Amino acid sequence: MRIQGYPDPGEGLRLHLNENTGGCSPRVLDAIKRVRTTDVSTYPSYPTLVAACARHFGVDPEWILLTNGLDEGILMAALGHIARARAFDAETIIPLPAFDPYPNSTAAVGAKAIRVPPLPNYVFQTEAVLEAITPRTRMIFLNTPNNPTGQLIPIADLKRIAAAAPQAVVLIDEAYIEFGGETFLPELPQCPNVLVGRTFSKAYGLAGMRVGIVIGQPPVLDPVRAVTLPFNVNAVAMAATLAALEDVEFLPRYAAQVAESRARLYEACRSLGLEFWESAANFIMVRVGDAVPLVVEALAARRIHVRDRSKDPTTPGCIRITAGMTEHTDAAIDALESVVAGRRTR
Ligand SMILES: Cc1ncc(COP(=O)(O)O)c(C=O)c1O
Repeated sequence: MRIQGYPDPGEGLRLHLNENTGGCSPRVLDAIKRVRTTDVSTYPSYPTLVAACARHFGVDPEWILLTNGLDEGILMAALGHIARARAFDAETIIPLPAFDPYPNSTAAVGAKAIRVPPLPNYVFQTEAVLEAITPRTRMIFLNTPNNPTGQLIPIADLKRIAAAAPQAVVLIDEAYIEFGGETFLPELPQCPNVLVGRTFSKAYGLAGMRVGIVIGQPPVLDPVRAVTLPFNVNAVAMAATLAALEDVEFLPRYAAQVAESRARLYEACRSLGLEFWESAANFIMVRVGDAVPLVVEALAARRIHVRDRSKDPTTPGCIRITAGMTEHTDAAIDALESVVAGRRTR
């Protein structure tokens, strides 16, 4: 029997799901402790959090849809724009490598996924995406920085793709944008067919709370709103998110840790002779070749959990390592060095 969700790797350092390795702001826990019995016994009401998010992202409150993690936002976007529109011959465009919920949501609404293979070194395949657009294209999933490669899509390319597919919704997934790169948000007023996805799971360390946001002009956002369940974000998560937004020092401090961790991981890969890709996100992808199962298992035996990416044909021989607090990165580097060096001396 299959059990819901990802297996729990147990004790140790979780560097496999791109979480915040330092935990959330302590102010979040204080806010959770202040949640009242009546906050729990009543259905949540969102205007305060929507207003705080609108201020934070610099958009009108009508442009904001809170979701149960960005995962839910991705599925709701597909439901709202494909299933609800009864677009039965719909295609979605998915540049590879891609985050699983894009093909999964495409399948859930009965659409056909047009997968666009990667270019050497994972430079974004803009021309191939443009060539894949047809009158049947209803959604295009663009992820910047990309999970798992950490590569950015230039803003000019995002604009070109959005302009070339006015019949489609372009979902720009910025789950990791706080760690590097430029947000597309200032371009949104000129882009009526674009939705930007953001999450509180990564930089803010609220993955367990499940809060994401879909942002867009009302004509493109409202079909998504129409299929989203009315109480999809719970009262505790709401209190947590408000407190996370108020702690303005938390994010730059953590982003600096991530930047330093990435630099240390690059250095370690260089000295171990491992291929890697410089990343704008809180993880890096590293090629260890045929040794993936051995490396992943040997690291897990040292209670360091990294992600095996080798089963995806577009990332052969690769693992993905979360870059979080520098102390955690140092532990991962120590383990990686002993596993890789130990393998060579055998
Ligand atoms: C590219 C990308 N988008 C969206 C998400 C979803 O984040 P959440 O549902 O936790 O908000 C993730 C999480 O791993 C991700 O990697």
